[in-house]
Amino acid sequence: MRLLNRLMLLIPVTIALFAIVDGHASSDPSNKARYDRFRIYRVLLETEEQVQLMQQLENRSDSYTFMGHARHTNQNLTIMVAPQKIAEMSDLMERFHIRGSVLLHNIQDLIDKEDSTVMPSGNDPEHFDWQHYFHLDTIHKWLDLQVTKHSSILQSIPLQASYEGNLIKGVKLSKKSGNTAVFVECGIHAREWISPAVCTYLLNQLLTSTTSDVQDLAENFDWFFFPVVNPDGYKYTFEADRLWRKNRKPYGLCRGVDLNRNFESDWNGIGASSDPCAYDFAGGSAASESETQVLQKFLKENAQSSRIKTYFSMHSFSQLIMFPYGYTADKVQNYEDLQTIGERGSEAIRRTHGKEYVSGAMIETIYPSSGDSVDWAYSECDVPVAFTFELRGPPDSTKMFILPAEEIEPTGEETLAAYVAMLKAARELGYYESAETQKGEL
Ligand SMILES: *[C@@H]1O[C@H](CO)[C@@H](O)[C@H](O)[C@H]1NC(C)=O
Ligand SMILES: *[C@@H]1O[C@H](CO)[C@@H](O)[C@H](O)[C@H]1NC(C)=O
Ligand SMILES: [Zn+2]
Repeated sequence: MRLLNRLMLLIPVTIALFAIVDGHASSDPSNKARYDRFRIYRVLLETEEQVQLMQQLENRSDSYTFMGHARHTNQNLTIMVAPQKIAEMSDLMERFHIRGSVLLHNIQDLIDKEDSTVMPSGNDPEHFDWQHYFHLDTIHKWLDLQVTKHSSILQSIPLQASYEGNLIKGVKLSKKSGNTAVFVECGIHAREWISPAVCTYLLNQLLTSTTSDVQDLAENFDWFFFPVVNPDGYKYTFEADRLWRKNRKPYGLCRGVDLNRNFESDWNGIGASSDPCAYDFAGGSAASESETQVLQKFLKENAQSSRIKTYFSMHSFSQLIMFPYGYTADKVQNYEDLQTIGERGSEAIRRTHGKEYVSGAMIETIYPSSGDSVDWAYSECDVPVAFTFELRGPPDSTKMFILPAEEIEPTGEETLAAYVAMLKAARELGYYESAETQKGEL
């Protein structure tokens, strides 16, 4: 009996040891990050003193997770506060007369609720849908399945890339020669699950929709879809920490580079951090990360030959449609055109389900950032129609990145409507004319 007891005790210990020795400690569910009683605050900075206070707070304590940095007065700032700091936060707000509110009292509640809409790993890709969130392996299997089903028009593009050895899987859809191409990059930030979900939604629509607008897009553009360009990070959000953003490469004590700060355009400038522990860590050097390298290489090699004239980078949340630049207030040369195209996108979204998206240059619309993929594609690959989407929810969302799965389909629908309207506007402005008469190359 005593021996049996000892054996029973040994079993979990052995499993735990194996898990660690195996290097898969993170896949043990009991090691998952938890956010019980973590709160989301949204505060309005009204004085210079309050701005400085918030800057110090971000520097001093990782119990406060800032979504964006405190920069200037008249700025709304979203901060996730660990439970042991709630009293301190309340005190600070009172003492420094900071106006704001608690958007959410318990992040873990949201994560737990979302759990029932996450399909398990190993799911049959025939059962793929847009009412659930799916693991990386299922998304990849679903892409393979589409290539099999539509082999005459769909081609697989497996890029060998991530730090942990996961593929960055893409597909190219082409129904005829002579088209210009649209590049759709999704999932660069791991926790923004709506992005890969919308990416597969859009691809599926282009493959199956009988609507004439959508068929027109499928027929008259070539499409590159990369649903998860940060596969390691995406996997980690399912297995270990729902709110992880960066890739998973170790840098000393901390891990992860913000891949959307790692591109070779004004690298490590404004709105990026050189601290490996920061959420917007720019990396060891420009394009230090293998994920960035393979994407840059692929785009360099294909931008001209495949005539990639349009680039969409899909993120969440805040409901924005933004064009370059992120790092400077200088206006791009085709600012007016991009302004028009962006506005057509937000109008189409409003008409679909009434959601309000704001459009404008990145630096004017959200916050300064450098080293992002859209600035790079625009500047270094001459992709003239380049946009970053921040999908649902609104800037003061109480759910942030944890968008309920029932919103995947409507978000997909309105995004598709935006693509239809934006590509139509860009076409009217002459961006997709044949190589000889192309705008800007006359
Ligand atoms: C925060 O830390 C950074 C980097 O260490 C430093 O440059 C900055 O001055 C600090 N800001 C404040 C307000 O303490
Ligand atoms: C801050 O948020 C409040 C509430 O959502 C909004 O009314 C206000 O316009 C925002 N201010 C700025 C500067 O974004
Ligand atoms: Zn993002």
